[in-house]
Amino acid sequence: MRVVIRNACLPAPFTPPGFGPDERVSVWLNQGCIEGFNLDGTPDLELDAKGGLLVPAFIDLHAHLRDPGQEVKEDLITGLAAAAAGGYGTVVSMPNTTPPIDDASQVSDLVERAERLGGARLRPAAAVTRNQDGRQLTDMAALRAAGVSLLTDDGRTLEDAGVLRRALEYARPLGLVIATHAEDAALRSDGVMNEGPVSERLGLPGNPALAETARIARDLEIVEQTGGRLHLQHLSVARSLELVTAARARGVRVTCEVTPHHLTLSDAALESEDWFADPILKVAPPLRAAADVQALVRGLEAGEIEAIATDHAPHTRAEKESDMLAAPSGIASLEVSFALLYTRLVEPGLVRLERVLSALTSGPAAVLGLAAPSLEVGADADLTILDLATTLVVEPQNFKSKAKFSPWAGERLRGWPVVTLVRGRVVYKRDA
Ligand code: DOR
Repeated sequence: MRVVIRNACLPAPFTPPGFGPDERVSVWLNQGCIEGFNLDGTPDLELDAKGGLLVPAFIDLHAHLRDPGQEVKEDLITGLAAAAAGGYGTVVSMPNTTPPIDDASQVSDLVERAERLGGARLRPAAAVTRNQDGRQLTDMAALRAAGVSLLTDDGRTLEDAGVLRRALEYARPLGLVIATHAEDAALRSDGVMNEGPVSERLGLPGNPALAETARIARDLEIVEQTGGRLHLQHLSVARSLELVTAARARGVRVTCEVTPHHLTLSDAALESEDWFADPILKVAPPLRAAADVQALVRGLEAGEIEAIATDHAPHTRAEKESDMLAAPSGIASLEVSFALLYTRLVEPGLVRLERVLSALTSGPAAVLGLAAPSLEVGADADLTILDLATTLVVEPQNFKSKAKFSPWAGERLRGWPVVTLVRGRVVYKRDA
């Protein structure tokens, strides 16, 4: 199948040599790869980017697709459709399903089912410990052979330092990354939001920044002494980033990710509506102080954060409509992620578009050990066309995800994916 995408602008850092970033180019795809630019011939399919940006499809290192066992919240069909609608061509699914993904046969089953769907690519993460109970390591060699790149007990914290040490030791020769949800359970205690002036005013139990920073300090010391590769999931605190950059300067092999919500919302959002804390905003780790948000944004601009990962975490509306103490943590954001980043960070000049695009493509690819996504001839035609001009209102009722509610419902955002292609095939096209 031969496809041409006409009138596409190819922005930095992906502008091929010989082209300008604002130049309109026809990009030809053939057999799932980029064939060339401004070619002649007859395509099977013609797409018009209308001056929008053509970029490598995004890679999400962190999405809860809830399949198997929690399909009332999300499943492979809806989760991968939501990903494609968000401009994602590859998704790393979290293993905290029912049962947890801790066995190679479960990974193979997920990969086969996703391939049959023919949408966004699925790269399942598997658990570090059997049943994610924090005690006995999974069979990492078998998981690697089944295609796993990243192991995590996300959703739960890895309390036992000895288990983390052994996990890093076993993972290292296999080239696997150990990713951690860094939150000290004892320090977090029963906290349901960031500990600080806002939690005090709302009278809600706080989860201190220290729960994250103390755990990250421990994990960094373990990886520094043990070797192996550590990836820190959903960083939320300014001090966490200081610890990571200092460790990296010493040569520690550590990478990190930040979510769109921790980059754009602070705990102040919880008291903005008549002092009513909305559980839709309850997330783990919690939304932090404004100073933390600003530090993470600066770190993204400075290139200190490898990846923006959604932590797309759908729950049922009934669960999220209970109170702050009872509601589960999680925000579903696959479908608004880029528009949020573009409207809140790029347009106000806080972060360059180039940095955001890298953190959605080459950064996560490097964490997974994949080749850097590019627009070069011969590269995989996993591509996204972005419309930066049209303002659209966030309408969660139209989400592909089963979580049809959102902290950003009703907001006017710009920067919307219009077409997503995987292996040269259209897997999402925005309605006209
Ligand atoms: O907010 C969150 N929700 N954070 C996590 O770490 C887990 C996730 C979930 O599974 O709902």
